[in-house]
Amino acid sequence: MFNEIDFDKLQLDMPAPENDTQRQYYYIAKCREGLKELELGETPIRTFCLTTFGCQMNEKQSEVVAGTLEAMGLVREESENADVILFNTCTVRENANLKVYGRLGYLQSIKKKRPNMKIIMFGCMMQEEHVVQKIKKDYPFVDLVFGTHNIFKFAELFYEMLHAAGQIVDIWEGSDQIIEELPTERNFSFKSGVNIMFGCNNFCSYCIVPYVRGRERSREPEAIVKEIENLVQDGVTEVMLLGQNVNSYGKNLENPVSFAKLLEMVEQVEGIKRIRFMTSHPKDLSDELIEYMATSKKVCHHLHLPMQSGSSRLLKIMNRRYDKEKYLGLVEKIRKAIPDISLTTDIIVGFPGETEEDFLETMDVVDKAGFDTAFTFIYSKRSGTPAAKMEEQVPEDVVKDRFQRLLKLVQDRGRERSSRFEGSVQEVLVETESKDKGVFTGRTAYNLLVHFEGTDDMLGKYLKVRLDTCKGFYYLGSIVEE
Ligand code: 5AD
Ligand code: SF4
Repeated sequence: MFNEIDFDKLQLDMPAPENDTQRQYYYIAKCREGLKELELGETPIRTFCLTTFGCQMNEKQSEVVAGTLEAMGLVREESENADVILFNTCTVRENANLKVYGRLGYLQSIKKKRPNMKIIMFGCMMQEEHVVQKIKKDYPFVDLVFGTHNIFKFAELFYEMLHAAGQIVDIWEGSDQIIEELPTERNFSFKSGVNIMFGCNNFCSYCIVPYVRGRERSREPEAIVKEIENLVQDGVTEVMLLGQNVNSYGKNLENPVSFAKLLEMVEQVEGIKRIRFMTSHPKDLSDELIEYMATSKKVCHHLHLPMQSGSSRLLKIMNRRYDKEKYLGLVEKIRKAIPDISLTTDIIVGFPGETEEDFLETMDVVDKAGFDTAFTFIYSKRSGTPAAKMEEQVPEDVVKDRFQRLLKLVQDRGRERSSRFEGSVQEVLVETESKDKGVFTGRTAYNLLVHFEGTDDMLGKYLKVRLDTCKGFYYLGSIVEE
């Protein structure tokens, strides 16, 4: 495992190894040595600040980048005064892109004063040709740009950057490589995301993910289990299995394995107490999975099942491959098998051509399905996707009005659903201390947050907490003495 490696003892007077993991270790050691020398000079590189936009997959990949930098000897700092500034970007909706450009504009003035500071951009946005062109033209002070397919090469790219005069851009069109065992610096000591697959084959017509993350690739189940065993050794008790469509996990492996089977393998890892997963596509949710969730002792009874729209007409144009009836039927089937399930979803408002009638179908599903929470998004036009070419874009004021109406219904229904736990005692995993000292936040198996008074030693532990007052999407609670 990487944390058993002494990077100061690696042999560096030979060419870089061919094996991908060893090669990155070699470059980490090279950078470590190089940065130590720089430290003696006038412009040391000692600290880094990494900002992550977007989904949990990005969070996970940022942990690898942070782990690599720390293995090189750099120290993390939460301010843009750091010597190396990194952005892991998202491009699912336009807002995230605009934020990144905003930050770059600001950093330009800082870099004028501190020319030795390094700026690095990577992740989904960089897989778009027009973005890279814009960075080359308008932001030449960015030192290193890479995409989603070669993140595993970060140590090597960083080394090149330290020795290059100009901007380095390295974007790959695609990759079927999955590189294991890179250094990782986890955000939490007791819970962790675990990638089980990369990419997506679904091509929902509004979505840019398949273009920037490439085709679906599953990791071998043995590699996943091994990673989880190592995480347990390191103090982790909760894992979140991550993929764009976990329900199609393992279909393309040489020896195909179903997602339910993978869950069973993970469940057998001693020391794991909770298993979560994200995201499920309704078209691929199998009976096998529902049955497994119903009987499992460790898989949390929470399912994130993006519906996107309640209109069968729009679902077809979105290329979702289910309709309103099928979605509601699925919800019914799940509730029957797992009556205490907590259901959450994603909904897009203002997809091209959405009529009031279509929108009311969405409202109808929200009314009927009993979501604990729904993440609501205003449709964002992503160039390169089929929906971007559709003509009937919905006027902004109409979209805003629908969005507000939907949000109100989601909140009302969510509050009703969440209040079902009022007065009950739940086991929570204590995750963070809030800014108010002595107030801690825990998460129930149903993914509901509860704030309560506690002490530092409770972080990372499972405690019994009474959910006293429902505040909508969270609770105020109190610890129940054993
Ligand atoms: N506009 C708005 N929302 C989008 N999503 C994906 N693409 C878009 C887009 N172009 C939403 C979907 C998805 C979630 C992660 O982001 O609801 O489930
Ligand atoms: Fe995008 Fe659809 Fe793939 Fe999800 S399933 S990542 S919405 S293309």
